[in-house]
Amino acid sequence: MGAKYEVRGNIAVVTLDNPPVNGLGYDTRREFAAGIEKAEGDPAIAAIVITGAGKAFSGGADIKEFGSPKAIAEPNLLTLIRQLDNCSKPVVAAVHTVCMGGGLELALGAHYRVAAPGANVALPEVKIGLIPGAGGTQRLPRVLGVETALNMIVSGEPVKSELLASLPGQKLFDQIITSDLLEGACGFAAAKAAEHAGGAKPLPRVRDMKVSHPNPDAYIQFARNMVKGMARNFPAPPKCVDAVEASLKMPFDAGMLAEREIFLALMLTPECKALRHAFFAERAASKIPDVSEDTPQRKVEKLAVIGAGTMGGGITMNFLNAGIPVTMLEMKQEALDRGVATIRKNYESQVRKGKLKQDKFEQRMSLLKTTLAYDDIKDADMVIEAVFEEMGVKEKVFKTLDEVMKPGAILASNTSTLDVDQIAGFTKRPQDVIGTHFFSPANVMKLLEVVRGKATAKDVLATVMALAKKIKKTAVVSGVCDGFIGNRMIEQYSRQAGFLLEEGCTPQQVDKAIEKWGMAMGPFRMGDLAGNDIGWAIRKRRYVEKPNLRYSKTADLLCELGRYGQKTSAGWYDYQAGKRDAIPSPLVVEMLERHRAELGIRPRKISDEEIVHRLVYALVNEGARIVEEGIASKASDLDIVYLTGYGFPLHRGGPMCYADTMGLFNVVQAMKKFAANPHDDAEFWKPAPLLARLAAEGKSFS
Ligand code: NAI
Repeated sequence: MGAKYEVRGNIAVVTLDNPPVNGLGYDTRREFAAGIEKAEGDPAIAAIVITGAGKAFSGGADIKEFGSPKAIAEPNLLTLIRQLDNCSKPVVAAVHTVCMGGGLELALGAHYRVAAPGANVALPEVKIGLIPGAGGTQRLPRVLGVETALNMIVSGEPVKSELLASLPGQKLFDQIITSDLLEGACGFAAAKAAEHAGGAKPLPRVRDMKVSHPNPDAYIQFARNMVKGMARNFPAPPKCVDAVEASLKMPFDAGMLAEREIFLALMLTPECKALRHAFFAERAASKIPDVSEDTPQRKVEKLAVIGAGTMGGGITMNFLNAGIPVTMLEMKQEALDRGVATIRKNYESQVRKGKLKQDKFEQRMSLLKTTLAYDDIKDADMVIEAVFEEMGVKEKVFKTLDEVMKPGAILASNTSTLDVDQIAGFTKRPQDVIGTHFFSPANVMKLLEVVRGKATAKDVLATVMALAKKIKKTAVVSGVCDGFIGNRMIEQYSRQAGFLLEEGCTPQQVDKAIEKWGMAMGPFRMGDLAGNDIGWAIRKRRYVEKPNLRYSKTADLLCELGRYGQKTSAGWYDYQAGKRDAIPSPLVVEMLERHRAELGIRPRKISDEEIVHRLVYALVNEGARIVEEGIASKASDLDIVYLTGYGFPLHRGGPMCYADTMGLFNVVQAMKKFAANPHDDAEFWKPAPLLARLAAEGKSFS
């Protein structure tokens, strides 16, 4: 697939044709360039229309080629744009549907642009830590003015073609065509051909247009200040300002060089690497090695949710939002009433904040039904169980579901700690059972761990992955293990946080260090939010199952004081009634001092760097085991779990990406040092075999 060439009267039409979004891959570029050359050389052709086949003008660079030599092989995008710029015949870009990144830069190389209404126009490079690299920062200000252009470049957000065309003085679009775009574009091109015939009038080139602003220095200073506040941790946004400033202050060619220099420098930053990693990792997460993309799916048009508590309610909202009817089932009417009231309250608050229209709210509520009888849900295509976290309760529910549900219904459990294979074993249809581990609050959090049981059928997995997309979740597949991916890793992070307290840190010192590094919330604030009693229950189980596993006793001591966190207004921190501010607790400090004295530990000052590395490498080491055991099919899935479910900083790309950035050799070296610390746990820091192997071979996780 590349580009098509067609002649309509005396107009040549060169159509980018590389589904799904006409990415500007090598073959497409080559065939496009050949098309332009052919049209220019053909005396019967008076003008050229460039456009895109199918559902896009062009989405920009071909992401399949990213980072490969093909991405910059000649003819590269800059060459194509130069070819359009220098073309002796009028070139008209016919823009529709999607015109982004390199696609927009290509269109800006044409002499004229016409557009269908509703096209999404954007320069989204900033979202992967870059600036546009093929003249976007120099040409867009010339056609839209500095302010609108900079706004689009810094935000990366799409703007509709008709809105841009309505801006006073804009030169981006010469016409919005509401009838057939190609026909309109060819008509427009024919008119321009006549206008410019025989060199009567020079062809307009964006590069020759002037960029001006009534108060350039003040505006650029203002923009710089704005961007600084917006883009902590990300180097690209301020560089967008620098590049646009170059368009204002330099001749075109010098501006292009400035843009190139900035682009190349950004490409090498760890933040850009992290953002690109996250971009690809998210796409990769939906691909399952042994489940092909054309696996048939089951239909899911009607859903049932068992349990209308914290999770059941949140889960239900996701489906109502997507227009899928849900029946909630409970044991008692009061529980149903409470569940419905919470859902209603959540929606009402969105309506009050102007985030949801009243009619949408009513429409969503109308999709919700409740029942106390299994008979009312037997026809559902899928049921998600969110009852108490007790195997006995789950057993009863799944045995009943097995009896009543129609054949082929998908039976999902939202369990966070129980064995999905055991749950599947309560039914005679384990192939239809799957885990859907939502995160709290389930209507807000993006992450969904899809737990694949030993017997889970491929079409069930494919259906649930597609459904996740429909309800706007980022789904990651996990095998069955204690804690699945996210919580299994976080347990090691929490263990390490406990050792840090024993050695001399305060909870606030640990939280501050890791939050300064970028985590949304440190381990102790997180414990207080989730409830310290949850971890306590897990540890009690571990003390029996794995008596040799070392834990700091600090968290147990805290729970023995009844300090469960925000819900008891006291945890690692103190809380004032109705407020969430974490106030350092003298009582906790005293408790820690007493504990250290009992253990005979002389507290030492621990650097922020050591805190961060001990916490993050704890995630990495467990992550390596998860990958090696095949619980996750690739390391990047773990990064997505942490970026979307655990407040891991995007500019670090996820724990495994961060380890790669630091270099696995260095990670292992640091772990050896931690293992030598008598107050830490040497066993804890034994590098996972996969990590040790990759480090020894000089390789990385990705
Ligand atoms: P919850 O206690 O808020 O709600 C459970 C609901 O299930 C209650 O309303 C209860 O009346 C109902 N229920 C109990 N037995 C039932 C039965 N036999 N038939 C019908 N309804 C029944 O609990 P929560 O927090 O919503 O947790 C539910 C599930 O989600 C658990 O498996 C939990 O491990 C899991 N989970 C919880 C998360 C959280 O942060 N709360 C996060 C992820 C998963």
